[in-house]
Amino acid sequence: MSGLFDTYHRRINYMRISITDRCNMCCIYCTARSVPRLTHDDILRYKEIQRIVKAAVGLGVKSLRITGGEPLVRPDVSALVELLSQVDGITDISLTTNGALLAKYAAELKEAGLKRVNISLDSFKADRFKYITGTDKLGEVLNGIEAAKKVGLDPVKINMVVLKGINDDEVIDFARMSLDEGWHIRYIEYMPFADTEGEGNRVVAVGDILESIQQSLGKMEPCLPTKGNGPAKYYKLHGAEGTVGFIGAVTDCFCANCNRFRLTADGGLRPCLLEDDEVDIKGPLRSGASIEELARLIQEAANMKREHHRLGEEFVRGKRQMWQIGG
Ligand code: 5AD
Repeated sequence: MSGLFDTYHRRINYMRISITDRCNMCCIYCTARSVPRLTHDDILRYKEIQRIVKAAVGLGVKSLRITGGEPLVRPDVSALVELLSQVDGITDISLTTNGALLAKYAAELKEAGLKRVNISLDSFKADRFKYITGTDKLGEVLNGIEAAKKVGLDPVKINMVVLKGINDDEVIDFARMSLDEGWHIRYIEYMPFADTEGEGNRVVAVGDILESIQQSLGKMEPCLPTKGNGPAKYYKLHGAEGTVGFIGAVTDCFCANCNRFRLTADGGLRPCLLEDDEVDIKGPLRSGASIEELARLIQEAANMKREHHRLGEEFVRGKRQMWQIGG
């Protein structure tokens, strides 16, 4: 078999690239407020990221996603998109963003070769949005969603992290947007991950979300994803143009189909979001490693992939937090 495989015979063809640990929001389920941020020298330059991607492509990686922190707070992300789209063999470049700066950059990102975006949005209510994110940027995010659609980033997917007692009463309103506006909604189970508020008691199982949508809005039919590499299971409401997807990180372990690894902003290769295993690639890269040597490090990280994460079994307090890895 050629290409990148882990020791459980899973093919790895999808790389998530975090380009900053900074963010212009401060979500209750994500940010630990006390940890120092990375400095300029710590984080990989865009050319360095391109070099790592060249090594990954040689192993069969085809899809890339740019994440953060909030990726759009780093200057000139379009320049990175352009560098990555120049790499032969890359067929899909996407971005995960909180959307606040998207109206400003959507057109140039599309022009540079970005195909599609996932936008995080957890509430349509301004006061609640402020409680969850610590900011007043709801209007900007909604403008960002519109801008992304207008410039032809497709599909635009909306990620909602459902938190018991905080925004779970808006699940139906979000599902309705798949009918009224053709939105692609994805409900993400809250992962009690490191130092976030509420821990396990905020988890709403995706099965319960699905059931409550069907009770209010009628039966849904399973459908194929619009486009993507992810673990979501998709459905359609009768007559809807958009879809609703469910990412059950806690109750529906999808590790058996895992196809990805991550590059942290400071140059760590992480085989799994929820485990602390990591291979340093920045050090060797800056000491002049060849593409073949970089590829060997990527294979080494793939070899470290565990059969599955341990989030559901026992609470593993990670050394790195979400904003340091990229969701
Ligand atoms: N649990 C579930 N989802 C999370 N995200 C960030 N932190 C968590 C968490 N603790 C989501 C973001 C983003 C996606 C990449 O991950 O909202 O949409």
